[in-house]
Amino acid sequence: MSLETPSSRPAFNRKNPLVAKIARRKLLTEGCKEKETWHFELDLQGSGMDFLPGDSLALFAHNDPALADEILAALGFSGDETVTDPNKQEVPVRQALIESCSITAPEKKFLTTLTEKAGESASDIATLLQPDHKDALSNYLWGLEIIDLLKKFPSLEWTPQEFVSVLKKLNVRLYSIASSLKAKPNECHLTVALVQYESHGRTRRGVCSSWIAQRTDESTPAPCFITPGKGFRLPEPEEDIPVIMIGPGTGIAPFRAFLQERDATNAKGKTWLFFGEIHEQTCFLYSDEWDDYLAKGVLNKVTTAWSRDQAEKVYVQHKIVEHGAELWSWLEQGAIVYVCGDAERMAPDVDKALHDIIAAHGGKSEEESAAYVEQMRKDKRYRRDVY
Ligand SMILES: Cc1cc2nc3c(=O)[nH]c(=O)nc-3n(C[C@H](O)[C@H](O)[C@H](O)COP(=O)(O)OP(=O)(O)OC[C@H]3O[C@@H](n4cnc5c(N)ncnc54)[C@H](O)[C@@H]3O)c2cc1C
Ligand SMILES: NC(=O)c1ccc[n+]([C@@H]2O[C@H](COP(=O)([O-])OP(=O)(O)OC[C@H]3O[C@@H](n4cnc5c(N)ncnc54)[C@H](OP(=O)(O)O)[C@@H]3O)[C@@H](O)[C@H]2O)c1
Repeated sequence: MSLETPSSRPAFNRKNPLVAKIARRKLLTEGCKEKETWHFELDLQGSGMDFLPGDSLALFAHNDPALADEILAALGFSGDETVTDPNKQEVPVRQALIESCSITAPEKKFLTTLTEKAGESASDIATLLQPDHKDALSNYLWGLEIIDLLKKFPSLEWTPQEFVSVLKKLNVRLYSIASSLKAKPNECHLTVALVQYESHGRTRRGVCSSWIAQRTDESTPAPCFITPGKGFRLPEPEEDIPVIMIGPGTGIAPFRAFLQERDATNAKGKTWLFFGEIHEQTCFLYSDEWDDYLAKGVLNKVTTAWSRDQAEKVYVQHKIVEHGAELWSWLEQGAIVYVCGDAERMAPDVDKALHDIIAAHGGKSEEESAAYVEQMRKDKRYRRDVY
């Protein structure tokens, strides 16, 4: 089985990113009221950037300037004051807040300084910062941003440098690459869900997903680099190994790359895709492409789960159980199972469903079924890329 990395990986990395162009975009969930998931195509022409299906792209985003301005107003800064930013660059504070500081989630250094400044009036937060209150602190912070705390404690005095010094560096966000260089040379496709929610009476948006979906166009530089998908690799094209791909939501992204690659390399072995989303009509990401692959035999089976098209939630793990006998027979033929998408809820539920069908159709006890899954893991036949 292939675990190789590209042979001539150019030196693009965190310190030396490729500045790509976002050449094309498409809303994949047109008409869906509950969510926005976007398809992006980055132009890599002339860069020599190399990657394999299963790799991710790390993107440097900018914060929303409107949020930076709101923070500046709350602090009484003009925005022109010079500060040393987390990259050790001397820049105007507004630029630092937009480009290099994390200005949404309150981190420990900011909270500690805030409680020191606020004294008794922030003693409840100071208590939560004690090591034995970790869970209570994360409950308190759920949906709470720096701007909320600045507004809650309006009389605190901060200098521009002091404020920037307690903020973390704005970190990259990773996205599973949704295309294969063999099928789409000089391109890198992404499938990005806009993170958007209401908390404390405000609409919040994820930094990078809102940047790419709402604040970029063709002229926006998109600094990026590849992060290798440790072990999330296809078998060699000539290996006749069944491939089962379980990717609800944006978890579909690497499997689009897998199928493009398998199509381009005429890969042997049958394939089965499990996909789940909210509504069949509006959220069936890349459905035309799956139809084409089914017609060509690149895909042998697609099984879908639409969570809100009926009264009861239907998720991919319900479909795994429903198709348990056939899935068990694929496992016994040596299939590799790939899982991508939500780590918190979906991946554990899918894991349980796999254990259940192995027990039910393999005639195994709970312990034997766990040992079977463990052996699959050791044999690299159960590979997960979850976030
Ligand atoms: C290997 C890997 C591959 C990935 N691939 C993809 C991909 O292909 N497509 C994709 O869309 N994403 C993918 N992700 C996730 C992606 O990296 C980002 O985490 C995601 O886009 C959110 O980033 P953001 O900057 O928009 O949001 P952020 O600014 O980072 O905000 C997200 C944070 O907001 C908070 N939050 C979210 N919802 C709520 C809520 N309802 N209430 C309160 N707080 C909330 C949580 O603290 C959450 O951590 C991947 C992650 C990894 C590690
Ligand atoms: N922190 C969290 O709680 C959380 C949860 C989900 C996603 N996320 C993050 O949100 C981003 C985008 O998510 P996404 O758009 O890719 O899709 P998603 O939110 O994972 O949703 C895709 C589909 O999976 C369904 N789903 C929900 N719970 C599930 C479960 N336990 N098992 C199987 N399927 C389940 C959803 O149904 P319903 O929505 O109808 O229930 C939806 O139909 C990702 O970065 C992901 O990590 C975070």
